[in-house]
Amino acid sequence: MAFVFEQSSHTFSEYLLVPGYSSADCVPANVRLQAPVTKHKAGEEPALKLNVPLVSAVMQSVSNDTMAIALAKEGGISFLYGSQSVENQAAMVSRVKRHKAGFVPSESNVRPDQTLAEILAIKDKKGHSTVAVTEDGTSKGLFVGLVTGRDYRVTRMALETPVSSFMVPFEKLVCAAEGVTLSEANDILWEHKLNALPVLDGNRRLTSFVFRKDYDSHKEYPLQLHDEFKRYVVGAGINTHDYALRVPALVEAGADVLCIDSSEGFTEWQKKTLDFIRGTYGDAVKVGAGNVVDPDGFRFLAECGADFVKVGIGPATICITREAKGIGRGQATSVIEVAKARNEYFKETGVYVPICADGGISQDYQITLALAMGADFCMLGRYFARCDESPTNRVMINGSYMKEYWGEGTERAKNWQRYEGGGNLAFEEGVDAYVPYAGSLHDNLAITLSKIRSTMCNCGALTIRELQDKARLTRVSPSSIIEGGAHDVYLKEQTGFLSR
Ligand code: IMP
Repeated sequence: MAFVFEQSSHTFSEYLLVPGYSSADCVPANVRLQAPVTKHKAGEEPALKLNVPLVSAVMQSVSNDTMAIALAKEGGISFLYGSQSVENQAAMVSRVKRHKAGFVPSESNVRPDQTLAEILAIKDKKGHSTVAVTEDGTSKGLFVGLVTGRDYRVTRMALETPVSSFMVPFEKLVCAAEGVTLSEANDILWEHKLNALPVLDGNRRLTSFVFRKDYDSHKEYPLQLHDEFKRYVVGAGINTHDYALRVPALVEAGADVLCIDSSEGFTEWQKKTLDFIRGTYGDAVKVGAGNVVDPDGFRFLAECGADFVKVGIGPATICITREAKGIGRGQATSVIEVAKARNEYFKETGVYVPICADGGISQDYQITLALAMGADFCMLGRYFARCDESPTNRVMINGSYMKEYWGEGTERAKNWQRYEGGGNLAFEEGVDAYVPYAGSLHDNLAITLSKIRSTMCNCGALTIRELQDKARLTRVSPSSIIEGGAHDVYLKEQTGFLSR
């Protein structure tokens, strides 16, 4: 006869946090939301940390390069969807890595004998108005001048005018020498009121530009997540079938972290995928695995070398796995049980393997609950799908704006690799749906994060670790769930969907 767990499993909505003592310094402005992404030894820093404990789901309807850039600006990470060709996914990774950096390799370059028409064509095609002029027209060529939109007047100049006659020549430009730090480069930009600063090596060859707009962006997004070259951090989903092709392409394109995206991760397939990565790259390539819902699954993946372990089977908003197959576990119970296993593993081995609560978060406060229950960070699909930056269409349904949101287990996504379907999906485990349109990611996150910080203060915690140590959770009865919303009053108007 099957083993039957004594306790039933529970969802986030069945729990609340009970406030603890808050000292006077316990104010939202003092809360730090940094979270580890990758495994690390006791007393050591993880190789990769989040500035806010949120990552976006490995889904076609959630995580493309636009979302990845927007989320990295806010301090989180997107995992670019894997249900696309290796080439397309790698190209998405490189678009994120190239998008912004303190030092940007010059992407638009011309020779001095090229013409105004060619400058206009570059502007039209790539949107770049700053063009480097190098002797051979390459990004690393001998630097001879610069063209910006201020150097020509289309209405007064012939299209054949050579670049050499209207560029600002090297001799008249302010440039920096290779080795300049970003903060020195920014000082030069400000001091000389420049928009772009060319950085040159000892042989006057162009190595990169530093742009003033990137400095402004850094001030606007103080939590943005960078790699060591000041490029945005980005993740990418992989599967247990084509990893030998996909992983090298993603690594080559610059992905900072990978994640095996599978509906069920306690499998030999995951071990083989992790073996391949560890065998080829050692610990240099960071990779999460999952999903699991119990201590055995966690330990298996931790011992196989996963950098983090993803938790959740069946809780997601678009998920019908539980109905279709009868597998899964209440997400709160899964997170609590796996967090206990993570802590035991840490005590035993001295290695801390972060866990990610994946799916089923339908209210902002449930992020704080998941963190209090022991998750290091949360993966969200629905939340991000509602925003401007998600890849899907915004449509008007019955007078309200909606965004499309579909699961990877739908016929639409055709992601059989996630479901081990052997070339096709025998049945669906997800639905194709709408979610209420919510506006910009920045506006939504501002509200969500302030709620998290505020709740943490109620619990007397200034960091996620402190929250986990201090938080006290209580299960709630069905009638107290009803009591939790507005009740016994007539609402004047329905509240919006921003950040719920
Ligand atoms: P949400 O935040 O509750 O919408 O859940 C997002 C999570 O749902 C993803 O990170 C996946 O783990 C999971 N997921 C994605 N597509 C499907 C599907 O078609 N069926 C079941 N789960 C899915």
